[in-house]
Amino acid sequence: MGLLLPCILLLSASTFTAGVDFQRGPKPFGQSVFVRRSYIEERAANIVKRSLPAWLSASPKHSIKRRSAEQGDSCEALQGYDTKLAENTHSYTFNDLSGSVSLAWVGDGTGVILALTTFQVPFFMIRLGQSKLYRSENYGKSFQDVTNLINNTFIRSEFGIAIGPENSGKVILTGEVSGGHGSRIFVSDDFGKSFSHQDLPFIPLMQITYNPDNSNVLMVLSNSNELWLSEDFGSNWKKLHDMVCLVKWGRKNTIFLTASLNGSCNDRGMLELRRITDYGKTTKTVASKVYSFGLGGRFLFASVMTGKGTMRMIHVSVDQGETWNMAQLPPVGHEQFYSILAANDEMVFMHVDEPGDTGFGTIYVSDDRGTVYSKSLERHLYTTTGGDTDFTNVTSLRGVFITSVLAEDNSVQSVVSFDQGGEWVPLRKPADSKCDATAKDPDKCSLHIHAAYSIAMRLNVPMLPLTEPNAVGLILAHGSVGDAISVMKPDVYVSDDGGYTWIKALEGPHHYAILDSGGLLVAVEHSVNQPINKIKFSTDEGQCWGVYTFTKDPIYFTGLASEPGARSMNVSIWGYRDSLLSQYWISITIDFRDLLTRDCDDNDYVQWLAHSDDISDPNDGCMLGYKEKFLRLRKDSVCWNGRDYEVNTQPTPCPCTLDDFLCDFGYYRQENSSECVEQPDLKGKVLEFCLHGEEEKLQTSGYRKIPGDKCEGGEMPERKEIDLRKRCVSDLVGPELLIDSPSSKSVPIVITVIIIMLLSIAAGVVFVKKYVCGGRFLVHRYSVLQQHVEDNAVDGVDDPLETNHTHNGKIEFHDDSDEDLLE
Ligand SMILES: *[C@@H]1O[C@H](CO)[C@@H](O)[C@H](O)[C@H]1NC(C)=O
Ligand SMILES: *[C@@H]1O[C@H](CO)[C@@H](O)[C@H](O)[C@H]1NC(C)=O
Ligand SMILES: *[C@@H]1O[C@H](CO)[C@@H](O)[C@H](O)[C@H]1NC(C)=O
Ligand SMILES: *[C@@H]1O[C@H](CO)[C@@H](O)[C@H](O)[C@H]1NC(C)=O
Ligand SMILES: *[C@@H]1O[C@H](CO)[C@@H](O)[C@H](O)[C@H]1NC(C)=O
Repeated sequence: MGLLLPCILLLSASTFTAGVDFQRGPKPFGQSVFVRRSYIEERAANIVKRSLPAWLSASPKHSIKRRSAEQGDSCEALQGYDTKLAENTHSYTFNDLSGSVSLAWVGDGTGVILALTTFQVPFFMIRLGQSKLYRSENYGKSFQDVTNLINNTFIRSEFGIAIGPENSGKVILTGEVSGGHGSRIFVSDDFGKSFSHQDLPFIPLMQITYNPDNSNVLMVLSNSNELWLSEDFGSNWKKLHDMVCLVKWGRKNTIFLTASLNGSCNDRGMLELRRITDYGKTTKTVASKVYSFGLGGRFLFASVMTGKGTMRMIHVSVDQGETWNMAQLPPVGHEQFYSILAANDEMVFMHVDEPGDTGFGTIYVSDDRGTVYSKSLERHLYTTTGGDTDFTNVTSLRGVFITSVLAEDNSVQSVVSFDQGGEWVPLRKPADSKCDATAKDPDKCSLHIHAAYSIAMRLNVPMLPLTEPNAVGLILAHGSVGDAISVMKPDVYVSDDGGYTWIKALEGPHHYAILDSGGLLVAVEHSVNQPINKIKFSTDEGQCWGVYTFTKDPIYFTGLASEPGARSMNVSIWGYRDSLLSQYWISITIDFRDLLTRDCDDNDYVQWLAHSDDISDPNDGCMLGYKEKFLRLRKDSVCWNGRDYEVNTQPTPCPCTLDDFLCDFGYYRQENSSECVEQPDLKGKVLEFCLHGEEEKLQTSGYRKIPGDKCEGGEMPERKEIDLRKRCVSDLVGPELLIDSPSSKSVPIVITVIIIMLLSIAAGVVFVKKYVCGGRFLVHRYSVLQQHVEDNAVDGVDDPLETNHTHNGKIEFHDDSDEDLLE
């Protein structure tokens, strides 16, 4: 008997499209786009809700007191701020009727903002458009119209404003000339003060990208799939390659690309992966039969056809494609995809899509080599069509990640991991919140966080969750409290301890920003139809909020803008006013510096032990082998951290336990045991994996440190290392297999069908999967990262090849979800 609950967000049916691996593009850094909004409808789905999985009602292991609960804090600290803020409020009106404005901060701490407005009307086959450029040197307090610098050229605003890496002060705008039949770039190397222009010998397909190691070197694909390079910041261009399907900057001035031999990028699975060094002097094919590729941390990933039907598998290289290993991940078919959810030099979170258009897949976490994977989370929400996932790296606390799962009843539910994907649990219900209508039991439910999926579903969620590395422990997010995410109006929740505990901070949807490294939070109510004139601010991590009326004449609000990095004290409120005949843009900048009258001193900071409940317990707070104490601003201190504020942390190593290790290839953990035991079907038998080349060290004691784990001493698994190489069989040769790297001289290719045991902890069911092992690749077996996994809750982590770097603080303010789709 199902209970009809129309207020739960459920996965909506989506139409089938072929999966594309590794295609989540990074969001432009330090940029915001505001669009004048049209009314957004709240969507309600009505699907019968069935039972809540048992593991979701389980409460998190940790029982942590709120940091705030320890301090008597009243909401009276701030008084008489109105006049102080009024003296520091600056309004600027743009004589401009354009439909959208893009903002970009140039440099760090320079106060330079470029605002590009575009006005566009589609007119038969031609686009008629006009762009205007404005520049501020004082954090947005005033702007200068510098449209003359771009000579009224129509700038392709969909490419954004390309800001150079580091503090290079470089800016590129890509414009259209002669009705879209030609392209011209405007380049500046003086923070947008002056621009010079250059006509391109091609029409770009994408934004021009900077070499991250040398901002003078630019690369771009043309609309006829040619790769063009400039070594002199856009003055001269040379063509490097034809028929390029996908191109990315690698490390140390390398370029990786997939090229089609066939003349069509639709011929996936037949592409060649090439590495270009010395800006084109050397080109080397590093893999063939490639479907797609991605870069994450120090890892290069390629999905390569297995030679068996349409299946493909992930291969990993840590030496720029010289040698490859086969990742211990399931192969996928043409309708599935792989995605790197997050990656650093130590490990990667990989999402593997489930067969069929289910909208979910499994997250796996890698070891430090990128080859052995542990299952981390099943039923992880990631739509094939929209490419939406809620996976969020909580950058304000090491090891914390939040994402959503699709429950059996198709409702969307949030889970959090505090140990880099080892264990996933529901988020704790805020003490001050009641369970909503989605909850079966009005006293027992959890917090659910709205992220990319809710935004794609056009719920009334104006922003993604917000965290900043320099605002330790702080998370701001929209959410609802119940058994699943609700489609009703969300509220803003704040955690000050990296997601262990939460409070409801603001009623209803808001735009929010972190200023002064977390010392100041600001928020503006998100109301689509009502003009607004109030901004809320908090100096105690969201417990008390002051309200300041920044203008007498309310504006239609489109978004908040503050300098990326969360160190600023200036925030701009962008919006427009509607007069009888026209709408015009307005930006109101508030400098909060005078609100915090003094600089913080030593007495304003208290010690805080991350991941801990009890600072006096010596075993508390260990996370990946070490604990970290931070000096954090006291909640009742009203002072200025300052631009130079550095996070102050004292890491101390913890003694090792078996839980600091994952099981290496050929070993697994039995339920409720930390010990890695040899897989029985491997004992005494020849191993099914084979390898060529000495760089693979297949000696293992069965244990391997979890990537990033820094434990010392304590329990160290001692076991004789077995050289697995000796047991390799090589008499099964199959002709059609795999990567044919020019460096490998006719190595005999080995093909073996092996059986992989995947231990399902939940049911104790053994699934049998077939793998193909070939040539120079390793095949590994699944291991389970942690033994105390609750029910079918959890075993996997995933990693996108390219993270959407929302931790840089710049959220995009589109209400057009297309902007957030995969490239
Ligand atoms: C602007 O356009 C005019 C006419 O097309 C041209 O003469 C002039 O050189 C251009 N100036 C710049 C800065 O591009
Ligand atoms: C293109 O690829 C297909 C199969 O992948 C092959 O049959 C065909 O011959 C190729 N065409 C050319 C022109 O190489
Ligand atoms: C998550 O973000 C933190 C802080 O930016 C970063 O140091 C870490 O490498 C990220 N983790 C992954 C797996 O990408
Ligand atoms: C705020 O803006 C002013 C210039 O208007 C600048 O001098 C000041 O440094 C900015 N404050 C911060 C913290 O960035
Ligand atoms: C593992 O532990 C759980 C809870 O402690 C228990 O219910 C379960 O029976 C145990 N499983 C085995 C195989 O011992």
